[in-house]
Amino acid sequence: MKSSGRNVVVFYGSQTGTAEEFAGRLAKEATRFGMKGMVADPEECDMSELSQLAEIENHLAIFCVATYGEGDPTDNAQEFYEFLQNGDEQLEGVQYTVFGLGNKTYEHYNAMGKYVDKRMAELGAYRVYDPGMGDDDANMEDDFITWKDAMWPKVCEFFGIDAQARDINMRQYKLTVHENYDPSRLFTGEIARLNSLKIGSQRPPFDSKNPLMSEITVNRELFKGGDRNCMHIELNIEGSRIRYDSGDHVAVYPTNDSSIVNRLIELVGEEPDKVITLTNVDEDSSKKHPFPCPCTYRTALSHYVDIASLPRTHVLKELAEYTTDAAEKEKLLLMSGTSEAGKAEYQRWIVHDVRSIVHILEDLPSCKPPLDYLCELLPRLQARYYSISSSGKLYPNTIHVTANVLKYVTPTGRTNKGVCTTHLHQLKPDNGLKYHVPIFVRKSQFRLPSKPQTPVLMIGPGTGIAPFRGFIQERSHQKEEGKSVGETVLYFGCRNKERDFLYEEELTAYRDSGLLKLYVAFSRDQPEKVYVTHLLEENKAEVWRIIGVENGHVYVCGDAKSMSRDVNAVITKICQTEGGMIQSEAELYVKKMINTKRYSSDVWS
Ligand code: 2AM
Repeated sequence: MKSSGRNVVVFYGSQTGTAEEFAGRLAKEATRFGMKGMVADPEECDMSELSQLAEIENHLAIFCVATYGEGDPTDNAQEFYEFLQNGDEQLEGVQYTVFGLGNKTYEHYNAMGKYVDKRMAELGAYRVYDPGMGDDDANMEDDFITWKDAMWPKVCEFFGIDAQARDINMRQYKLTVHENYDPSRLFTGEIARLNSLKIGSQRPPFDSKNPLMSEITVNRELFKGGDRNCMHIELNIEGSRIRYDSGDHVAVYPTNDSSIVNRLIELVGEEPDKVITLTNVDEDSSKKHPFPCPCTYRTALSHYVDIASLPRTHVLKELAEYTTDAAEKEKLLLMSGTSEAGKAEYQRWIVHDVRSIVHILEDLPSCKPPLDYLCELLPRLQARYYSISSSGKLYPNTIHVTANVLKYVTPTGRTNKGVCTTHLHQLKPDNGLKYHVPIFVRKSQFRLPSKPQTPVLMIGPGTGIAPFRGFIQERSHQKEEGKSVGETVLYFGCRNKERDFLYEEELTAYRDSGLLKLYVAFSRDQPEKVYVTHLLEENKAEVWRIIGVENGHVYVCGDAKSMSRDVNAVITKICQTEGGMIQSEAELYVKKMINTKRYSSDVWS
């Protein structure tokens, strides 16, 4: 930092890319206030050098950290977290602030952001501005811009510099267009190294930077009717040296739908096969390109750029620069600002109406941004994580995935589709036709008890069944090995018995064999809703016996937004009615179960 005259460093702890994206925006914005910023991945830094920041005049360390899973740091912030925990580090003179990214539906809301803030202060660092906490369940973007727009003036005041933001050229990357480029040297979707996705020449170990091109050996429909789809996919990992346990996640790199890619290219009037390189204008930056270059626009938009999610406010602000119609321009500027009317309009026109970049360009026809700038502004396309639905003990050569194909009509009458599930849905092996997708495995904390005798209570409506299918396979395998296996209870929920009872044959067979106790809630087979929570309540004596008497483990998995909260409430209630606790005791009891990993969740929104 010293040699390049920088004074602001933004560290990020990111799992799905949002914290990294925010970090990039903050580093860029520092320039507008006359400072010089940089983004840093704590995993790639020697964080023990943090104290040396104090030697730089008017310096600021910003920590943009997401909380992941059950209050955990993200993978790339794990070492930094340990450094803070262990450290008797002296951070006197280090100036910092924190923005945490979390989700209020989770038990440990923004635990990491709060911890970093508290711990930095304990180690002697000086908090220049109060921490911001973003809630992904409400409006993360709103929380972020409200925080940062108040943070910068305070920082400027602290440094004694003019708080007036200068309008300067904010381009981070320079465009080079290549003519007659050797096609064999173009990136075509690789995550890091050229040709690393070539089938036949791939080398382990496989991870996020070097994903395995896994063959889809099975892709079949699990629903028996209705207009929705649920896929059972089997991914071949034979010979890859990939190992997994039930409860782990598999990450799949998606490809954007070609019709959306083509539409975007058409709207901005570009050529899909143009070969480009985007190069960072900051030569000292460790990130030379926003994604692997050179590549064609088609490759960039198909594999590297997220064109389906909702553009954030800073993108709208930049779009305004390329909009000729006064009313359209004003609308974009309004939505990108922090006024109440602007926030409300962003909430209505972008969030509620689910407008992606393509929809915005369609509805604001005078907006014509250069495509290379869009490639810079829009976030990177991220891998999607699925709870593995098989047991690695039973299926060491395949990974099973159970996923609904996301599809819905937006308030503007457009049909929106989930990026990765729509892509996977099209990849059905047939008549020698083979498909491969880039994957890697991420370890999780969602684990069966170490002793097979320990009873387990699993609650997984819908595709929340996924990890439990793996758990059940594993318990069945243990039983066949002659081990004494404890009670294995599953609460599954779906809409109709005849349509979306996932893995009905398998589950009933496990039930008939005596391994599984199966309770199924059909929510739409009768006038009143019946949910898993209702069945738990009905069976409260048995639930309490498993939890309170036999020290069993509870697992919750699913995508129903309020489901995990409702299950938590029912279990807490059962601790009161059956376990004889008062409410505060029951809440503490459930908290303790969570902390001792006797109550684990794998939930998504
Ligand atoms: P519904 O769609 O009929 O409301 C899988 O999604 C199943 O979970 C569906 O049967 C769905 O019912 C049900 N579900 C929705 N919200 C729930 C909640 N809060 N608790 C438990 N189950 C829920």
